[in-house]
Amino acid sequence: MKTITDLARARRELHPIVMIAAYDALMARLVAASEADAILVGDSVAMVVHGYPSTVHATLDMMCTHVAAVRRGAPDFLVVADLPFLSVRRGLVAATDAAGALLQAGATAVKLEGVAGHEDVIAHLVASGIPVMGHLGLTPQSVNQLGGYRVQGRGSADAERLRGEAKKLEELGAFALVLECVPALLATQITAECAIPTIGIGAGAGTAGQVLVLSDLLGFDATFHPRFVRRYAEGHTLVREALNRFARDVRAAHFPAREEVLA
Ligand code: KIV
Repeated sequence: MKTITDLARARRELHPIVMIAAYDALMARLVAASEADAILVGDSVAMVVHGYPSTVHATLDMMCTHVAAVRRGAPDFLVVADLPFLSVRRGLVAATDAAGALLQAGATAVKLEGVAGHEDVIAHLVASGIPVMGHLGLTPQSVNQLGGYRVQGRGSADAERLRGEAKKLEELGAFALVLECVPALLATQITAECAIPTIGIGAGAGTAGQVLVLSDLLGFDATFHPRFVRRYAEGHTLVREALNRFARDVRAAHFPAREEVLA
């Protein structure tokens, strides 16, 4: 089993870290049988699995249900769980309760977006023995404020702010941080300036690791193909063709065959 200390070692030894966002037991089992290092139960589950328009709709109950499922599928794997929308903004007790619930559901660590205004929460969780992963750049829980899913840190003031926030996360004791949709040069700079691993998504090749959502890398959604996602399978075609073969077999009375009929 990989731990957060293994990720720290991987960062020191410049061994790229691989994280996959997955949400259920079956997919977790597949990831656990692969060469990936960690599973992220991202709040993107609200969009990918539940069909909501943004991650704002993820609730603590929803996250705990998916964390527990992933843990059942991958009993010995490093599982990071997203603290859902606003859960770190309701004070220390509420944030600690939310993080505690995710750990009791099966997470090894929690991830939270941004730093400003919840530095105390981050420090308190770390001091309480809960590993915290940060998330900077495009922070999808703030999509309504950001005005859409846009690259962050393009201007020099914004880039400076992000560099400062990354250092702040490190000082507060975060063990890693996700950099989402930031210019590659900035992500490389932040990676060089931080001892903790940076895990990029849409942040170029200069981060200490990469994360993709499993259904994106498997190409399950024909309509979703941002430039930063590489499809390692055309899942939507595979699934449609398999379903069509099944439908044709049923209609041609080729399924079930004699050997598929129970005595
Ligand atoms: O929710 C999620 O899947 C994430 C990744 C995209 C980093 O936060």
